[in-house]
Amino acid sequence: MNRSLSAEKRTDLLLREMTLDEKITLMHGVTAPTGDVASGNQSVVPPKGYVGYVPAIPRLGIPALRLADGRAGVGNAARDVTLLPAPIAAASSWDPELLNEFGRVLGQEQWGKGTNVALGPSIDVVRVPEWGRTFESYGEDPYFNGRMAAAEIKGIQSQGPIADANMYLTMNQESDRFRADSVVDEKTLQEIYLPPFEASVRDGHVGTFMCAYVKTNGVYSCENADILERMLREQLKFDGWVMSDWGATHSTVDSAIHGLDQQMPDDTFYGAALKSAVQAGQVNTSTIDEHARRILVPMFRQGLFDKTQTATWESNVRSPQHDAFSRKVAQEGTILLKNDRSILPLHADASIAVFGAAGSIAPKAEGGGSSAVIAPYIVSPLDGIRKDADAGVQVSYADGSDLAAASKMAGDAQIAIVFVHTDETEGDDRPNLELPGNQDQLITAVAGANQRTIVVLDTGGPVLMPWVNEVSGVIEAWYPGQEDGNAIAAILYGDVNPAAKLPLSFPRAANEIPTSQKEQWPGVGGHSLYSEHLNVGYRWYDATNTQPLFPFGFGLSYTTFRLSHLAVEPAKLELKSGEVTGKVLVRVEVTNTGNRKGAEVVQAYVGQPAANNEPPHQLRAFAKVQLEPGETKPVSLTLDERSFSGFDPSQHRWVSPQGTYEIFIGTSSRDLPLHSRITIGPSR
Ligand code: BGC
Repeated sequence: MNRSLSAEKRTDLLLREMTLDEKITLMHGVTAPTGDVASGNQSVVPPKGYVGYVPAIPRLGIPALRLADGRAGVGNAARDVTLLPAPIAAASSWDPELLNEFGRVLGQEQWGKGTNVALGPSIDVVRVPEWGRTFESYGEDPYFNGRMAAAEIKGIQSQGPIADANMYLTMNQESDRFRADSVVDEKTLQEIYLPPFEASVRDGHVGTFMCAYVKTNGVYSCENADILERMLREQLKFDGWVMSDWGATHSTVDSAIHGLDQQMPDDTFYGAALKSAVQAGQVNTSTIDEHARRILVPMFRQGLFDKTQTATWESNVRSPQHDAFSRKVAQEGTILLKNDRSILPLHADASIAVFGAAGSIAPKAEGGGSSAVIAPYIVSPLDGIRKDADAGVQVSYADGSDLAAASKMAGDAQIAIVFVHTDETEGDDRPNLELPGNQDQLITAVAGANQRTIVVLDTGGPVLMPWVNEVSGVIEAWYPGQEDGNAIAAILYGDVNPAAKLPLSFPRAANEIPTSQKEQWPGVGGHSLYSEHLNVGYRWYDATNTQPLFPFGFGLSYTTFRLSHLAVEPAKLELKSGEVTGKVLVRVEVTNTGNRKGAEVVQAYVGQPAANNEPPHQLRAFAKVQLEPGETKPVSLTLDERSFSGFDPSQHRWVSPQGTYEIFIGTSSRDLPLHSRITIGPSR
């Protein structure tokens, strides 16, 4: 308990005092009352609420671990918590600062509920657009996801709880998720799927990871030495612990010797069975020590031994600040995708016909599964619009089930707004990218009757838009959380100028996606072949010259911007034994050329020499800048060594072949007006 010692030292001292039973107690959760816990716990009754619980060991002052879900607010049916927008919405802000605050709010509410291990964020790269957990993730780019993950993790951990980034690794589909085998080559693992986890360790200092349900290359994630030992421990130097996803442990000995530190939520493999395996000599006591150490070090580091947490699951953790923050995220995460003839922002005196599920509560304020949150309230879009429209202006509403009535009502109003949604949830992938039910027909019917039709999408991922040319405006509002109606009305009426950008590509057609073959998704014979290799998301659209409907990085504003004066230095980087040394500084000026205050995201992509076999260009840096009308600001971006590297599986490291590297600067992956290049060569 000497706080002046390091976490490692305190762990050493503690481990010396612990019995085998006590170490094993740390290594699994408890789901039912038990009298069989080590060290004087006569009987342990898991407290209500938490989805995972590891009992305390009072003899040694080891605190209990209380685990709760939470990607968009505290989950597990907790009451009196804030429903934030889906993480995909937060990520659409392209603002790591916002993600940091997202983590702080989440961490504060978790801690305030008595949680000391917060399950989140979900950081896997979105490979399959139909993936049912797309809304929980940040999007399709590894570097981008890493930036967001590190920012959110730091936010969560700054408030008390240890964050648990998930799901490790290749958790890219829900179809057959308890058995699916991701067949993926080493280069792709290293360049696409590992980087968010790498950033979580390097920049986020995350305490725990959750290993996934799926297999990677034939072996279940939670007993996969290749990903747990070689990649996570040896390569990334992660010294925290890995817990299994709920029910993702499949063995005792294989898991224990291949890197799983903790079974969740129960002890089927890591209770009595683990003790017997140790006694039989199948698992060394030094291996048990190592697992216990990995759990204890983050607990010490995070101060769990030194703070008393008195709050309980029943506590009310809401606040006006958190309500306001939920709204801020929804506003900053809402993307303006189409705005013909500047139909938006709306005039407050325009009569409006509103369609879809916008009238009841909300079309869809959150996604389903373990990230579901009980919202304290939800402001419906209809209420939001009625509040912001001028007094006396007609705002009519119909759910849209009667298409003839809908088109009549649309024709009678100056503006028509159709709210459409998808129902995304953990456990299921969407069958396809179409809007379910009659929603496409509803849009077509309304747009046929009113040329000034706007579609608001409340989806967790991309959808097809067969009607896109028939409507004047399209907004992606994602799953916007409890402040739904207030946020969307603020965007529609221009109180907020949209500044969000897509963190994933939207395709034009069902077969124009990177994973359109069933061997890729949902897989054949239990195997999902990652045969697109590095060409995930926009990388695939670029490599195959396929035009997306809306590209990665894209989003409009009510003002306009111009980029100019690109300067890149130095023009040459030197190689030392295959590795590049030094960074490149990119400077560019951004001007707000319109007449409203707004924000633009400057994006830097690097294209490698053809011989490197990399996608045409990849996001390596970005920055968001706020500008008054007419204002110009300089923006600096740093391109580090990794920006000019690729993973060479034969050498097991990142290398930078010599040659010319292209640097593209712009405001989406498909709008890159400025261009420069550097060379990489041997040092002289
Ligand atoms: C999910 C995890 C979640 C866990 C506990 C699992 O089904 O995959 O993300 O943390 O349940 O609820």
